[in-house]
Amino acid sequence: MTSIAEPSIGTPIRRTESVAKVTGAAHYAAEHKPAEMLYCAYVPATIAAGTVTAVDTAAALDDPAVVAVIWHGNAPTLGEIDDTELLVMQSNTVAYRGQIVAAVVASSLEAAREAAESLGVDYDDRGAPDNELTADHPKLYAPESVNAGFPTDVTVGEPVSAVTSSGHTVDAWYSTAPLHNAAMEPHATVARWDDENSLTVWDSTQAPSGVQADLATLFDLEPDKVRVIAEHVGGGFGGKGSTRPNAVLAAMAARVTGKPVVFSLPRQGTFDMVGYRTPTISHVQLASDADGRLTAITHDTFQQTSTIFEFCEQTAEPTRHIYAADNRRTTHRVVALDVGSPRWMRAPGEAPGAFAVESAIDELSYALGIDPVEIRLRNEPSVDPADGKPFSSRSVVECLTHGAERFGWADRPARPRQTRVGRSLIGTGVGVASYPVLISPSTANARVEADGSIVVSIAASDIGTGARTALRQIAADALGVGADDVELRLGDSALPTAPGAGGSSGTSSWGWAITKACKALVDKRGSDPVPADGLEVTASTDDDIEGMADVSRMAFGAHFAEVRVDVDTGEVRVSRMLGVYGIGKVMNPRLARSQLIGGMMFGLGMALMEEGTVDTQFGGFANHDLAEYHVTACADVPEIEAVWVEENDDDLSPMGSKGIGEIGNVGSTSAIVNAVFHATGIRVRDLPVRLDKLV
Ligand code: MOS
Repeated sequence: MTSIAEPSIGTPIRRTESVAKVTGAAHYAAEHKPAEMLYCAYVPATIAAGTVTAVDTAAALDDPAVVAVIWHGNAPTLGEIDDTELLVMQSNTVAYRGQIVAAVVASSLEAAREAAESLGVDYDDRGAPDNELTADHPKLYAPESVNAGFPTDVTVGEPVSAVTSSGHTVDAWYSTAPLHNAAMEPHATVARWDDENSLTVWDSTQAPSGVQADLATLFDLEPDKVRVIAEHVGGGFGGKGSTRPNAVLAAMAARVTGKPVVFSLPRQGTFDMVGYRTPTISHVQLASDADGRLTAITHDTFQQTSTIFEFCEQTAEPTRHIYAADNRRTTHRVVALDVGSPRWMRAPGEAPGAFAVESAIDELSYALGIDPVEIRLRNEPSVDPADGKPFSSRSVVECLTHGAERFGWADRPARPRQTRVGRSLIGTGVGVASYPVLISPSTANARVEADGSIVVSIAASDIGTGARTALRQIAADALGVGADDVELRLGDSALPTAPGAGGSSGTSSWGWAITKACKALVDKRGSDPVPADGLEVTASTDDDIEGMADVSRMAFGAHFAEVRVDVDTGEVRVSRMLGVYGIGKVMNPRLARSQLIGGMMFGLGMALMEEGTVDTQFGGFANHDLAEYHVTACADVPEIEAVWVEENDDDLSPMGSKGIGEIGNVGSTSAIVNAVFHATGIRVRDLPVRLDKLV
């Protein structure tokens, strides 16, 4: 801490835990094996709606390996909590097929599974489920607000008359399929009661502090008596952004048996209860003058939630910020169906909403004969259209123009279906990316020992993003040392309380608290030697965030894609993708690139592959494994590039960072679908683009 090292922020250092991960030394939640641990398996409801009338536990309990059978008749009573999906086995009600109705705890996983599979559960089946989202469902309603607190409806000017009186309009319906969080590591928890009032869990979570708070509420414990450890997490995407039923069931099973218990969701279970992306329906109307300058935008959205928890995705939210127009309307309607609770999945709302509005503007560009990049440039707002506030920074124009040049956009034919090479129709498309800059209050601790070693601690979670590494870099710069000189501890709720890894807010939120703690430590130490028992500072950013300037903070970007569509089969291959972003300062270009291209691959999945198929007869989803639900792999796009323009924005965190986890997934879907139109002349408005929609 005496010499000023070269800045670490902005350098592409390797992941702190990379060797541990590839050698298997890194331990994930279910790999922890406390002494005398038992195994839990659950019974998923086989009806879509109704009640459990009886559970025959006798046969299971005859097996000497079976220690306990838990169902609503004997489950411990849980405390009240907002997320009612967590009230595991608290009543006889079945709200969706796949919901936990019973669980078996045994001395081996095999015995637990066998007993769970043969457990006799009787139901009163209410019959065929009401599980199909339609835009005219009689039970649609307007929620008080939508996810993350955004307003349900916003109307500015006279959108209806502006649309009716314009000669240049687009009026179209777009829909997206239910999508599933498919983290490589399924949700898993090991729970151990250390005594009657203190609980330790190893949980695969994006939010150790959040799980700590929820388990304390559910089991009526002091929060500091619950410790949640998530040292390594194999992906989350939002599905591990909040406490999930697996953590509750593991803690419950450990409570009932008095032994530590592991409960790992089988892959199929992750399709039922971890929160999927709701299907969405969007009705978009655009009106413009003959030059493509928008006079009106309306975006009315429809989505589903479950009968036990209201989650309304903010699907129209991106439309509020992307384009200028004097007359605007955005609305959200939701319906509670016999389905599992939808929840967060990477860029909730923003991703499906951007598909709709970025398809509509593309349709308008072809209708008017204006280049799709040019029409976007013409509708660039000078302030945030949502509230008239200035943007702290907004690089849409730079991203579009730089991207167009880099991608070779100018060479494309203006009209669709003009380029054929062999059996392939070739086309290119563009889509604007946007994502809010979210920052939440956090605390962090920085400590230096007498021997000079430095430890920075925070209850953050590294879900595979590289957060641990980026935070080390941030700490190093605040301390004036090299990144190698800092040990970064995270993934443990016993460390200073932090918000979860979500909303692309982790690095900015955690990094701000770390910067503050580290700078205060430097000041505290001054030029004196470190005392024998070390020195430390804990800092919190509540006031700093409260005091941020009243401006609009968003990350933006532009996605470009090239597709090749087989003329006979309709098979779509994406040959090139480019993302250009305005994302503030990048902490680590190696890690940022991997976040951004990961988001772009997510967008590709939404465009072409991923589709939860609703079982309208028996409830749930007909496809619930990775053989039938297709996620993208590297081979799905041979050439993918993510770059960023320079942004120096003083209205962000002290590091100058915007979020990067989700923006890659906003607008990339429409770039691909717009490219499919350019290749084929066929406009697909219902995702995913399957072969049958092109032939
Ligand atoms: Mo992300 S859907 O905010 O974890």
